[in-house]
Amino acid sequence: MRRAGNPGRSGHALSLRSARDIFAARERLAEVFGVPDSSRFVFAGNATVALNQAIKGILRPGDHVVTTSVEHNSVMRPLRRMEGAGVSISVVQAGRDGIVDAKAVSAAMRKETRLVALVHASNVSGSLQPVGEILRAARRRGVFTLVDAAQTAGSVPIDLSTLRVDLLAASGHKGLLGPQGTGFLYVRKGVPLVPLIEGGTGSRSENDRQPDFYPDALESGTQNSVGMAGLSVSLAWLLRMGVEKIRRKEMEIMGVLLDGMAKIPRVTLFGPRDPARSASVLSFLVEGMDPAETGLRLERRFGIMVRAGLHCSPNSHRTLGTFPEGTVRISPGPFTTMKQVALFLSALRKISSGA
Ligand SMILES: Cc1ncc(COP(=O)(O)O)c(C=O)c1O
Repeated sequence: MRRAGNPGRSGHALSLRSARDIFAARERLAEVFGVPDSSRFVFAGNATVALNQAIKGILRPGDHVVTTSVEHNSVMRPLRRMEGAGVSISVVQAGRDGIVDAKAVSAAMRKETRLVALVHASNVSGSLQPVGEILRAARRRGVFTLVDAAQTAGSVPIDLSTLRVDLLAASGHKGLLGPQGTGFLYVRKGVPLVPLIEGGTGSRSENDRQPDFYPDALESGTQNSVGMAGLSVSLAWLLRMGVEKIRRKEMEIMGVLLDGMAKIPRVTLFGPRDPARSASVLSFLVEGMDPAETGLRLERRFGIMVRAGLHCSPNSHRTLGTFPEGTVRISPGPFTTMKQVALFLSALRKISSGA
């Protein structure tokens, strides 16, 4: 590919072009999240890699972590692994609406607590967590914080100049509208993180020790420069459009969906009924029908593609009372039209009435 020189590995034109693409993506990411220093955004292959880096890079044996019962396995599995390495974990139970009580999170912190790790919005129920209150409580206790923003980055405004989080991870391919195989970890200055991967960075090549400056400290090996170039373009679009505008549009669609679905007999909705308390994600079940069957009918008969099952978050389903079958999940985005919403509601009416 014409633009895919290896960034930072040479001074020739193709390498420089690639490095500029990555720099542009980083600068735009920083602008989306209101951070003046873009070097604090470390690129990763996806949110999972970023979350693993955050969790395994900050915890040490003897530490304690507070997390919630609505986390994705990308948080829970690394935490369970760390449990085997001498870390203890408290899982705070969220309510049946999928929202955790900030006071309960605060009460679970103790002397050895080093990290509070929580999802910004559940990928099953869409429930937005009271992150501001939780982050303030953790800060008062000198506890580091990690927010999994996979479901909110690019669709719910996040201003890191006011939201004082230490670590924030997200995918590039969801609300940020970039290609798959992209993601990032934001690391607030001063947060001590041990790199998960060490190696060539194209910088300080005379030294056989990992550089300690960002983003190089956490970015070893050849980058996904083609993916980053794509992400850079989608971020430019996002900046022109404004995340606030996207949020308003998605909330409007969620409002119509919630109202419409609540009126369909035999359909049960999970999560908050108020779009202001939810990201653009909604789970439901049709009474007496396996979620996989509902998903199949939506696709086969109406061309509507949804995800059914456990959504890599068994604990969220236990919390909602939908384990082990799971739910059907829909997630309108910035390009969803009201015509599509009407088509979906009519399809669901037909499926639920057995027509
Ligand atoms: C809340 C949440 N966290 C983490 C992830 C993992 O993201 P990725 O697939 O980019 O690794 C997802 C993906 O669905 C998610 O919804």
